[in-house]
Amino acid sequence: MGKTNDSTLTEFVLVGLSAYPKLQTVFFVLVLWMYLMILLGNGILISVILYDPHLHTPMYLFLCNLSFLDICYTSSSVPLILDSFLTVRKRVSFAGCMVQMFLSFAMGATECVLLGMMALDRYVAICYPLRYPVIMSKGAYVPMVVGSWVAGIVDSVVQTSLAMQLPFCAKNVINHFVCEILAILKLSCADISINIISMAGSNLIVLVIPLLVISISYIFIVAAILRIPSTEGKHKAFSTCSAHLTVVIIFYGTIFFMYAKPKSKSSVGTDNQDIIEGLISLFYGVMTPVLNPLIYSLRNKDVKAAVKNMLGRKNCSDGI
Ligand SMILES: *[C@@H]1O[C@H](CO)[C@@H](O)[C@H](O)[C@H]1NC(C)=O
Repeated sequence: MGKTNDSTLTEFVLVGLSAYPKLQTVFFVLVLWMYLMILLGNGILISVILYDPHLHTPMYLFLCNLSFLDICYTSSSVPLILDSFLTVRKRVSFAGCMVQMFLSFAMGATECVLLGMMALDRYVAICYPLRYPVIMSKGAYVPMVVGSWVAGIVDSVVQTSLAMQLPFCAKNVINHFVCEILAILKLSCADISINIISMAGSNLIVLVIPLLVISISYIFIVAAILRIPSTEGKHKAFSTCSAHLTVVIIFYGTIFFMYAKPKSKSSVGTDNQDIIEGLISLFYGVMTPVLNPLIYSLRNKDVKAAVKNMLGRKNCSDGI
């Protein structure tokens, strides 16, 4: 199969929920509500952390970046999702689709790497508590944060530019609500084995390696916690990493559900199945951003104290 003349496709069409018109309004309201919750929850968490000098520790600066990422990640896709719910066969320009794909992929990949870095931070905090301030100095955690962003963005540049070079011929209907990379690759009329290989490499770097780092860190953390003699000490040590562990489990659980699940090769009637899977992965996708601020603030004394502090000081200054 050679390159055809009309390999310069100018736009894609998102089918969205056009097959389920009755569900459109319901999902529109649901997704909009969740998006507002994400903006509110993560926005509050970021302001609390930046406002309170007590929370200017590596753990909270990592968390602050994670919340910021969650906002960027959802903002890179939710507006398009909402639009695709409202518009029947939503048209998106080729460039627009690539930009959206680039942003979502970059934010997702950064988040994976950042969660791995956060596990290392907890590992040092629990296993080397006395040397923690020295090891996790500014000279260490700033490069860790910057490195996560760079890794995610570079990975996304590679994947997106490989996808952009593919020829797209006749098929331009994406069975999804967003320009999701796998859905786009499926549409190409050329051999996509290079893309599949590079996606596998990218999965190794941003999914498997961080997951290994997290697992190994937690093996050492659990071993260290079990060696603490007092129950109170055990509880205290565990409470500083339980929030991170919960977020990691939700995040990786959803990622593996979305990507690592064996895809049955398309046969007749799988289009609707694609949409249903898309809906499920949409809700899994917003799970971490919705729950992250809740998990970190409800179970965390420092964050609760900082919120009270912030409100308290506001009241005082208002009173004067
Ligand atoms: C991200 O982390 C860095 C620390 O390396 C911190 O200075 C910065 O304020 C954080 N930014 C956000 C938006 O969370």
